[in-house]
Amino acid sequence: MVFLLGIESSCDETAAALVDGNRRILAQAIASQDAEHAPYGGVVPEIAARAHAERLVPLIERVLAEAGKSLADCDAVAATAGPGLIGGVMVGLVTAKALAMATDIPLLAINHLEGHALSPRLADPSLAFPYALLLVSGGHCQILRVDGPGQYRRFATTIDDALGEAFDKTAKILGLGYPGGPAVERLALLGNPKAVPLPRPLVGSGEVHFSFAGLKSAVLRARESGLHRPEDIAASFQQAAIDCILDRTRIALGSMGEVTALVVAGGVAANAAIRAALEQLAAKHDLPFSAPPMALCTDNAAMIAWAGIERLAVGLAADPLDCSARPRWPLDPDAELVRGAGVKA
Ligand code: KG4
Ligand code: ZN
Repeated sequence: MVFLLGIESSCDETAAALVDGNRRILAQAIASQDAEHAPYGGVVPEIAARAHAERLVPLIERVLAEAGKSLADCDAVAATAGPGLIGGVMVGLVTAKALAMATDIPLLAINHLEGHALSPRLADPSLAFPYALLLVSGGHCQILRVDGPGQYRRFATTIDDALGEAFDKTAKILGLGYPGGPAVERLALLGNPKAVPLPRPLVGSGEVHFSFAGLKSAVLRARESGLHRPEDIAASFQQAAIDCILDRTRIALGSMGEVTALVVAGGVAANAAIRAALEQLAAKHDLPFSAPPMALCTDNAAMIAWAGIERLAVGLAADPLDCSARPRWPLDPDAELVRGAGVKA
C-alpha cells in the first residue's frame, strides 16, 4: 500500500498530511494564518512566507508522530509547486526537496489546482473520469473537464476577479473581516436575496467566461447608498454569484461532451448555497453531483498527497530535485489566454 507525505503552503494555510492509496488520511495538520493577516484585510505575502517557514517542519513532525511513521516509510513526498504566492510555495517545495534528498524518496511537484481538481476523488471512490469540474477558490474560477491526472481541458475562466475574491471583497465592503467567504455566507442566511438589485455580469451574453468585477462595484455602490441592510446585500450578492455560476456551468456542460458527474471543488465549494444550487443543476442534466467534504474544499495537504498518489498510479514520473516553484501554472496549457490574463482586448 503506497502512502505519501503531502505539503501545502501556496497561500495562507500551512499544511501537512499523510494519505494512503486506500484513501485513508492517516494524519493531517493545518495551521491557519487568519490572525496574522486579519489586520490587513487580506493575505500579505511576506508575512505568509515567514509563517510557513516557522510552522511547516513542526507540522510535518506532528503528522509523522501521530501516524507512527517515519519519513523513510513514505513512498514519496508531494508538495505544492505552484501556482500561488511564490515565497510560500518556495518554503514548501524546498522543504520537500530537502526531505526527499535526505531520505532518498521521490519528490512530486504538484500543481495546487490539480490538488483541488482531484480532491473529490479522495472522498468519493465512485467518481470516475471524465467529470465536469467547477473549480472555485480565492485565486481561480474555472470550469474544466477532468480526463485524468495531468489531463485537463478548460472551458471557462474569469476575465477579472475569482469568485472567492469577490466573496472576500464583499466581506470587506460589509466590514465582516477576513476571511470573507464564510462570513458572507453566514450573513446571507439572515437576508433577502431579492432585496438589492445587483447585476449578473455577462449572463445571457453568450460569453463563456466569468466576470465578477462589475458585481463587486455594484455591491460597493449598494453599501454606500445607505439604502440596504448588510444582510440583504450579502444575500443578494450570493444569489447573483450563484446565478452567474449556474449560467456558465450550463453553457460549459453543453459543449464538453459526455461526463460522469458535475463536481465542485476549491475553497468556495464550502458554500452550502452554492453546493445546493449546483446539485439541482446536476439533477436537471441527469448527472450525479459530487463535492468534497468541507475540510477538503479549502486549502489542505491531504489533497496534495492524493494528487501525488493519483499521478503515481497512472505512471507519471517523479520530479527532479532542481524543479522550480511556479507562481503561474495553468492546468490546461493549451487554453487560450483571456482578457484578464494580461491580454489586451
Ligand atoms: O481554495 P482556498 O482555500 O484557497 C485558494 O486556493 O484560493 O479558497 C479560499 C477562498 C477564499 O476566497 C474564501 O473566502 C473562500 O474560498 N471561501 C468561501 C467559503 N469558504 C471559503 N466562499 C464562500 N463561501 C464559503 N463558505
Ligand atoms: Zn486553493
